[in-house]
Amino acid sequence: MTTLDLKAIADAAALLRAGKLCAFPTETVYGLGADATNADAVLSIYETKGRPRFNPLIVHCADLAMAERLAQFSPLARRLANTFWPGPLSLVLPLREGHGLADVATAGLDTVALRMPDHPVALALLRETGLPLAAPSANPSGKLSPTTAEQVRRGFGDVVPVLDGGPCKSGVESTILAIDGDRLIQLRAGALARDAIEEAMGQPVELAAEGAAISAPGMLLSHYAPNAHMRLDTTPRPGEAYLAFGPKAPHNSLIRNLSETGDLHEAARNLFSMLHELDAAGVSVIAVAPIPETGLGEAINDRLRRAAAPR
Ligand code: TXA
Ligand code: MG
Repeated sequence: MTTLDLKAIADAAALLRAGKLCAFPTETVYGLGADATNADAVLSIYETKGRPRFNPLIVHCADLAMAERLAQFSPLARRLANTFWPGPLSLVLPLREGHGLADVATAGLDTVALRMPDHPVALALLRETGLPLAAPSANPSGKLSPTTAEQVRRGFGDVVPVLDGGPCKSGVESTILAIDGDRLIQLRAGALARDAIEEAMGQPVELAAEGAAISAPGMLLSHYAPNAHMRLDTTPRPGEAYLAFGPKAPHNSLIRNLSETGDLHEAARNLFSMLHELDAAGVSVIAVAPIPETGLGEAINDRLRRAAAPR
């Protein structure tokens, strides 16, 4: 890790405090940040992304104390935060009286999704602003999430300033968990594997049922979409690009290997970047190798299915 660019962080904080947008790095993907207590600032996130207003945002906190001013933490919620924060786990919790968040940040729900990111630049920025920051992935709605500052610039041009913190180490978005009494319900598979949560908490993590009362409104089926058409669980036909996984893949310019050693962490980290690269080559089809459904494979396959969904 290089030393923090304190000047760049102070400049970004000044923009955010003034109600402007600024993209910033997290360990998962780059976020398009705004002061979560400022309705106009949050509205400009929706406008800039072209994101539907009914889709609430994740609010990023500097620490658990800031999070507890915004939402009600049950003992179970607090244990999750103590175990996994800072880290790629977003908790959906009931709003607390006097929370101060803009209604548009939560899309008018009585719950909020909170997380404390595990990235030195994000944490420094959160401390410097002293504000909770609403931040969806920093891509135009429906496009691939960015894992480098360069990809953010490609998506938004000069419209959005970007605080550069290098490539993201996880590469897929946070896992989203709702808490229902003493039950844990996964609303989105993500960078924290479900079995890791189960093991640390000593209890099962259920999958959100289709159309259930508790759900993440943003889980539209088509999402994270490259321009190319995608074929999953397969091998490439002549002329198709290939997203490979494991040691046996051939090498050529239209092939990217998510992980030659079959490591799912490496694969998650490479997923969006490699899709970006293959897409930028202008191919019409990207074939994708089968990925195991274990550990982080759950999140990787979720993103691949959304990228391949009809749109
Ligand atoms: O890794 C991440 O989570 C990244 C980085 C920037 O932190 N952020 C991210 O945000 O992925 P976004 O906006 O792309 O995804 C937010 C998801 C959506 O599916 C939304 O519906 C869900 O969180 N969500 C937000 N608030 C919610 C709530 N109160 N109840 C249920 N789902 C919620
Ligand atoms: Mg997103």
